[in-house]
Amino acid sequence: MNIADIRRLTPATENYAYFQTSGFSPKPGPVIDEVVRLTRYHSQGPALPQIYEKMMAVFEATRSKVAHSLNAHPDEIVLSENATVGINIVANGIDWQPGDNLILSTHEHPGNRIPWYNLVTRYGVNLRFLNVGDDDGQMLEELDGQIDARTRLVSLSHVSRRTGKRLPARGLAAVARTHNVPVLFDGAQSYGAIPVDVQEIGCDFYTFSGHKYIMAPQGTGGCYIRRDRIEWVKPSWIGSHSQKEFDQFGKLSLLDEAKRFEFGTRNLADQGGFGKALDLWAEIGWDNVFAAIARYTDRMKAALQTLPGLVLATPAPYEQSSGIVTFDLPGYTSSNVCASLFEHERILVSPLEQDTGLVRVSTHVFNTDEEIERLVAGVERILRSGY
Ligand SMILES: Cc1ncc(COP(=O)(O)O)c(C=O)c1O
Repeated sequence: MNIADIRRLTPATENYAYFQTSGFSPKPGPVIDEVVRLTRYHSQGPALPQIYEKMMAVFEATRSKVAHSLNAHPDEIVLSENATVGINIVANGIDWQPGDNLILSTHEHPGNRIPWYNLVTRYGVNLRFLNVGDDDGQMLEELDGQIDARTRLVSLSHVSRRTGKRLPARGLAAVARTHNVPVLFDGAQSYGAIPVDVQEIGCDFYTFSGHKYIMAPQGTGGCYIRRDRIEWVKPSWIGSHSQKEFDQFGKLSLLDEAKRFEFGTRNLADQGGFGKALDLWAEIGWDNVFAAIARYTDRMKAALQTLPGLVLATPAPYEQSSGIVTFDLPGYTSSNVCASLFEHERILVSPLEQDTGLVRVSTHVFNTDEEIERLVAGVERILRSGY
């Protein structure tokens, strides 16, 4: 198995130049096959002891693979449907008091805004917004100045969904630590695209999606909760499977592990598919994957930069970027640009804010140089003769 196999194993990539991995990735054949195989097996009788045990073993194996990929311990991993579940676990797990504040950034996805915005009306929490700029030093200084005695948490993207800017996660976590404030990173755009080592970053929480760069089934993801924060987060959504012990009269003790935040009946076949996707990347080698995404993103930026009238919104040095390249076509509307590229060049990219010319191109190892050429030709066409 090597990088070139991913395109071969993902036939959907032939239909369009698929530059929308940051939204959702297409899925490789072996991942789909594993989900189908496990669904058939599970459906024989989920309550049969041998089937139940086998499926739980598959689920726990995925937890271990996820933990390994993040340099965490399996006990620190919650598996769930998406990155936003993890954000909700933390947002609703703090004993907020009126006048407390928390820090987000100016580039957050609704998934890392709405659970926090809800706290404003519910508990009287104040929000502060860290500016995401190109100058990392300035971001660290600004964060340092924004934290005060009432700051309860910092919750930031590791990679900006708007520009692909890679935030200086380690530095930001260090600043928060000097104030004893916990940090959550939203890894929806980083996990699988750039190296993520939660211990090296030094964060308290790290949420992630499986359905983006990992190319795992839709509705897979989770959250890393550092061991010493598992008790600190007050359990808000729990249920059957969360407990170590309980009785019929109100006695309850929860599991020590982060999986105390999982409950009820889950789709274990999809989680098995998540594990299968991680097996593919492990076989190829994560370093090879990250290096290929880096090379490709650099080529994409260089090619787009040759177009007069196009403004690159993504930082140039790769250390500050990821798998996302965003460009602006001032005077154009991004939704029209995307529709035109789809119709004429069979290119799938995504509009950012509807009233701007900002277009997001997210790349993965299955994209080709021919697709970059097609994209550049398409944008040239629009600049020359309109949509
Ligand atoms: C930065 C960021 N955070 C969160 C999300 C939401 O991810 P999920 O659907 O896995 O909850 C997205 C999705 O695009 C995202 O880009």
